[in-house]
Amino acid sequence: MKCAIVTGGSRGIGRAICIKLAEEKNYHLLINYASNETAAKETLAKVEELGATGEILKFDVGNTEETQTILTEWQEKNPDAVVEVIVNNAGITRDGLFMWMQKEDWNTVINTSLDGFFNVTNFFIQKLLRNKYGRIINMVSVSGVKGTAGQTNYSAAKGALVGATKALAQEVAKRNVTVNAVAPGFIKTDMTQDFNEEELKAMIPANRFGEAEEVADLVAFLASRKSSYITGEVININGGIYS
Ligand SMILES: NC(=O)c1ccc[n+]([C@@H]2O[C@H](COP(=O)([O-])OP(=O)(O)OC[C@H]3O[C@@H](n4cnc5c(N)ncnc54)[C@H](OP(=O)(O)O)[C@@H]3O)[C@@H](O)[C@H]2O)c1
Repeated sequence: MKCAIVTGGSRGIGRAICIKLAEEKNYHLLINYASNETAAKETLAKVEELGATGEILKFDVGNTEETQTILTEWQEKNPDAVVEVIVNNAGITRDGLFMWMQKEDWNTVINTSLDGFFNVTNFFIQKLLRNKYGRIINMVSVSGVKGTAGQTNYSAAKGALVGATKALAQEVAKRNVTVNAVAPGFIKTDMTQDFNEEELKAMIPANRFGEAEEVADLVAFLASRKSSYITGEVININGGIYS
């Protein structure tokens, strides 16, 4: 059984990625989420409607012990399962000006994106290398590339993940494991639901927010065999915002 794991697969961009990968039917989908079980079940139902298979794995990607416990249990129950694709998509924002930022909001944002990448990717990396094939896709952000005022914590988390992407890509390229980052601009999801698109679209050359499905199309390409000679890249998907 060949598998793809999508962290934060219950809602938003992660859900769109699960659905896109389900359409292609190459992988059994491991849909991770943190707390919204209803949403995770909806994603799984959509995956199954498309004739693909999947299952839900609840764990906080930022919690090393919990991640290892759940993934170890899953691997023991499924000894023949091979994870080929890892989409490190789980991420949160806790926005605010740096001068008023609480340490808690700094820690939790960095923990989810950066430790989340470590915890999930590190669990599988030796297996990918032994298997001599893998696709690792890290969801970063325009904020991690150009920096965004009010998001020092988030920009730091995503910028660090860009560095990790480039470094790991060089370590594992010989074994046909690629590591790339996808950097969306403003995408319509719960994360941006309070943003005023009418006001903000003035700074986007395409004059609109993006759809989660548009990001999912790019991720599906990077997750496929067609992207074999692309690694260590950060691919912007932001309607033309200069970054
Ligand atoms: N939307 C944008 O404009 C935008 C732009 C650039 C980058 N991004 C990035 O794209 C990714 C997805 O964003 P989104 O807009 O789809 O966000 P979203 O709609 O808020 O969904 C976030 C997803 O991440 C999961 N999650 C959050 N913390 C988690 C944790 N500790 N462990 C496991 N899962 C966790 C959530 O699970 P629950 O359902 O259980 O809460 C949910 O599935 C994030 O990394 C975000 O930073 C988004």
